[in-house]
Amino acid sequence: MLKIQKNIQLTIINSEVPQPLIFQRFPQLSKSIPWMALGQFPTPVERLTNLEKHLGLESLWIKRDDLSGALYGGNKVRTLEFVLAEAKKREADLLIAYSALGSNWPLACVVYAKQQGWPTDVFFLPYPMDNVKRENLELINELSRKVYSAKSKFTFPFLLYKQLARSRKTGSVYLTPPGGVSPTTTLGYVNAALELKEQHENGELPIPDFIFCSLGSGGTAAGISIGLALIGWPTQVIAVRVVDFIVANKFTSNLLIRRTLKLLKRNGVSLPNRNWGSNLRIEHNYFGKGYSQPTDLGEQSIELFKSHENQLLDSTYTGKTFAPIIDLSKDVSFKNKHILFWQTLNSRNLDKILNLPEFNIRN
Ligand SMILES: Cc1ncc(COP(=O)(O)O)c(C=O)c1O
Repeated sequence: MLKIQKNIQLTIINSEVPQPLIFQRFPQLSKSIPWMALGQFPTPVERLTNLEKHLGLESLWIKRDDLSGALYGGNKVRTLEFVLAEAKKREADLLIAYSALGSNWPLACVVYAKQQGWPTDVFFLPYPMDNVKRENLELINELSRKVYSAKSKFTFPFLLYKQLARSRKTGSVYLTPPGGVSPTTTLGYVNAALELKEQHENGELPIPDFIFCSLGSGGTAAGISIGLALIGWPTQVIAVRVVDFIVANKFTSNLLIRRTLKLLKRNGVSLPNRNWGSNLRIEHNYFGKGYSQPTDLGEQSIELFKSHENQLLDSTYTGKTFAPIIDLSKDVSFKNKHILFWQTLNSRNLDKILNLPEFNIRN
């Protein structure tokens, strides 16, 4: 048998845990879709006054999903609230997460899985790394049960499925979706749009004309797009592609939107017939030479955030995502728009994680 921790302490879904807004709006979902509370929501919205002034914009805002969890923030916390609940439902003994080398998804997964008592095996595809990823990799090595790195993209599936078959002989294994993204986990960002609406109703921000977010596995952008359509905002989502075209394009985004809508309908939500996904525009021009390869404008975004707002962006995702805002700020017709930048990169101090008693024992 696998040597697996059985001290799984799962969050009990009860009346004391606030249900996500999407379950409040569509109560039938709470009966059929597993979910557990992990993060700290709502994440703050703030006005980027210094950067706004510097760029000559009239209304520039940020949604601080970097603070989405006490241990580790970023966009994958909303995702994991569905992933780990699914693992619990399946009575998994072991989780498997896979991604590009050192990326944020497996780190978020091992942190919250470990907090909840699960061991995780992580499989990596080879990719270049920036400093954020080097730090991620160290922590993933520390917190996971085992790390496997494929030598090439071609050998990766063999490595993954060979080990998966091995582990399945000795216990129940949950292979988490790529990047944590599936129709179910996309509901995390549908929920995030409902959260934004509440913040607007509380007078915290105007209705944005544009929301800028990263487009990787696609769950963030697809979820926001569906959520905005549900609340009836005219906002356009600009999803800035930060991964290869083959995985992130209009077809894959629309497919995820359609599959998420199907999931909602299958679970008893009646939805109007409309042109879903028409509020989503994909921006391909800021990707540069490749995934995690820095671009000039992406690095300029990082620098501007550091110097004007004392906040951290990265070269792989968020720097590239802010880059079109720098370009567009020169356009007079853009200057008076309400712009929201959705910050999806963790900003919690990672050193602290290893010092917590529940995190300092290697499986
Ligand atoms: C910091 C960060 N932002 C954005 C994304 C892209 O999100 P999605 O996979 O939902 O498209 C990722 C994906 O890993 C990420 O790590």
